Parts: sequence; structure tokens; C-alpha cells
Amino acid sequence: MNNFVFTNPTKLVFGKGQIARLAKLIPSDAKIMITIGGGSIFNNGIYNQVVDALKGRDWVEFRGIEPNPEFETLMKAVEEAKEKEIDFLLAVGGGSVIDGTKFIATAMHYEGDPWDFLLDERKAANAKATTLATVLTLPATGSEMNNGSVISRRAYGEKRAFHSANTFPLFSILDPEAIYSLPKRQIANGIVDTFAHTLEQYLTDGTEGSAMVMDRWAEGLLQTLIDIAPKLTVERMSYDAAANFMLTATMGLNGFVAMGVEQDWATHMIGHELTALHSLDHGITLAIVHPALMDVMREEKRAKLLQYGERVFGIKEGSEEQRIDKAIQATEMFYRSLGVKTRLSEHSIGESTVNEIVKRFTDRGWRVGERGIVTPEKVGEILRKAL
Ligand code: NZQ
Ligand code: ZN
Repeated sequence: MNNFVFTNPTKLVFGKGQIARLAKLIPSDAKIMITIGGGSIFNNGIYNQVVDALKGRDWVEFRGIEPNPEFETLMKAVEEAKEKEIDFLLAVGGGSVIDGTKFIATAMHYEGDPWDFLLDERKAANAKATTLATVLTLPATGSEMNNGSVISRRAYGEKRAFHSANTFPLFSILDPEAIYSLPKRQIANGIVDTFAHTLEQYLTDGTEGSAMVMDRWAEGLLQTLIDIAPKLTVERMSYDAAANFMLTATMGLNGFVAMGVEQDWATHMIGHELTALHSLDHGITLAIVHPALMDVMREEKRAKLLQYGERVFGIKEGSEEQRIDKAIQATEMFYRSLGVKTRLSEHSIGESTVNEIVKRFTDRGWRVGERGIVTPEKVGEILRKAL
């Protein structure tokens, strides 16, 4: 097991009706900016619940944060927040609104060009940030209980991440009823994203850093997702299924399963490039890349792939090679069962994109995966496997 320091300061406020507690959770003298996406919260009653809870408080709102939050849009919010001397940001939405709000929170205090954070994570590491909190409406990213933020800059064709010690939300309200209005596509994206986050912190080559309890924990998250996926239908979503989905997504990327273990994240790094170049939803990119990565990295990840196949999908029969094949197929079939396409060609993406992504990794000197084992050449192999 690797040495680690674990800290997670975010208070979770979980359950139905909890949005009403906002006024108690936000300091009474705060100058609040509510940050909002494209409008789903106006149709499902969440906006009204937030506004009711903040009656009599000093607040403004900023609307229009897009899925894959856009740098240019967020810079407008930064200007407004500075001008209005905002000292509390409340993100009401999915991962994009929350990530965008983390960017606003730090960019408000940065003297230089805030894109610096995205180009050089070290500049963001301890960046000062305005206090932020969230009301989550889409279980997927774990952003409600982590300090990560992923920002897109369409003019540059780029999508990049940063982390600051100061961008953990102060609190996050997780009301499972907020997700009843999710369309099928976003439910599927959220399940895939959570599954992929867990795999990124579990399915490694085992050279360094493994923890028995974290393996079992990760396998529990994966199995929960497989169990609840059929119950998360748009037509009939029970409170129990919604609640389990929400908690699983948060637990998938709040630092818990990462304790003492090695991590991969190559699938995410490759997936971000697919979104930057083709605007694919984040979850869709992961469903394309992950099965192909498992196949290309099967030698390095052999022991874990066998464990994953046996413990998560009950695959015990056959040679090692056959069991690994079955585990990869089971993963792809799980994603497809959610209605998610798992091949680049199904999105009319071909060899030229593969070459462009390999070039980007090469030019940036990126070697990803655990200890850099996924070289640009491997990235090319993975993407060709996913064609
Ligand atoms: O914008 P609105 O109108 O709210 O609609 C959104 C959006 O169109 C809609 N939606 C959200 N909640 C809803 C709802 N529709 C109906 N009912 C509700 N309750 O869903 C659409 C997608 O929302 P978005 O926030 O973009 O999705 P998600 O939560 O999947 O976030 C994706 C972004 O997070 C980043 C991704 O790269 C991507 O940019 N990630 C952030 C991470 C982090 N901070 O730790 C880690 C992840 O790996 C990921 O990279
Ligand atoms: Zn993700």
C-alpha cells in the first residue's frame, strides 16, 4: 500500500427535502452568486426550491454554463462576480456547472490569465478560491465532493483539468428527487462515468500501491452500478434507486477508493481529447476508450483484469486469456446495455482523429496511466482498437 494523506472537507447533506436547509448552511452575511446551466433546473422545480430557501438573502444568479463548461462563458461570470463582490458561489447543476464554478472561484483571485491553471496544474494547486457549495442534479463526476475541475476552450480545441486544495465544496446537497427529470442519455453517461472513475482507481497493473479494502470497496461500487442500472429508467425511477445511484457516484470520485492505491486515468485523458475534437459527451468517450484500453494493456493489468472478471462479473471458467476476453466483453456489453455506443466508427470518427490525438500526446510529452505506462504509441493502439 502506498503512503497517503487523506482529507475531504466537504459536508454531504443527503436526502429528500434537503434543499430547504440552504439558508442555514450558507453564512447569513454572504453575497451569493447562484451558478446555473442551460435551464433544466427551471423545468424540474429545483430552481424554485433554491430561491425559496434563499428568501431574504443577498443573491444574484449567473445562467448559461454549458455542458463541458466553456472558458469564455466562465470569464464573464468571473467579471460579474468580481464587480458584485461575491463571496459565496452556489452551483446548482451537474458536473459542468460545478466545475465551472470551481474555475470562477479561483479565477476571481488570480492576477494572470486563469487559463494558466489548465496549462500548468502547479499554478492551481494552492490557488485562492471563493467559498463554493453545490446542489447536485446529475450523479456522475463526483465534482460535488472533490476538488477537480475540467474546463473546455473551444477556440483552442482544448479540454483540460485542474485541482486546487481550495476548491472542495464547503457542502453539497444531494437530493435524489432532483434526478427524476434526467433524460436517458444523461443517466447512462452518469453510470458510465462512475463505473470508469472506479476502474481508473482499481484496474491498475499492481506494481505499486494496492489495498485489499479499497479493491473490495471499488468492486462494491461497480456491482452496485450493475445492479441498479436497470432500475434507473426514465419512466419509473424509484427513490431508492436514485439515492443509491447518487451516493455511488459521489463515492466513486471523492478520494475514498484512491487511498493507498495506484491510479490510471489514461482513459479520461484520451476521452477528454475526443470531447475536445468531436464534442462527444464525457461518458460516451469513456465507454469507447475503456474496453479498448483493457485489451491493449492486458499484459500489464493481467492480474487485476482476472480479479475484476471474477469478482465483478463472476467469470471463473476458461484460460486466463479467455477470462480476460470475457471481462472486457462484459464491460462493453454493460455500456451497450445502457444504450451507449462503444466504437469510434459509430460516431463517424476515424484514423485522422487517432493520429491527431497521438500527435497531441507526443507534442505535450504526455505519458499517462500508472507510472506513465500508457505511451503515445499505446494511445494510438488503444484508439485503433476502438475504431
Ligand atoms: O445545463 P442544464 O440545463 O442543467 O442541463 C444539463 C446538461 O444539458 C442536464 N441536466 C443536469 N441535471 C439535470 C439535467 N437535465 C434534467 N434533469 C436534471 N436533474 O444534463 C446535461 C449534462 O450536464 P453536465 O453537467 O455537463 O454533465 P456531467 O455531470 O456529466 O458533467 C460533465 C463534465 O464534468 C467533467 C466532464 O469532463 C464534463 O466536462 N468531469 C468532471 C470531473 C470532476 N470535476 O471531478 C471528473 C469527471 O471525470 C469529468 O471529467
Ligand atoms: Zn469522468
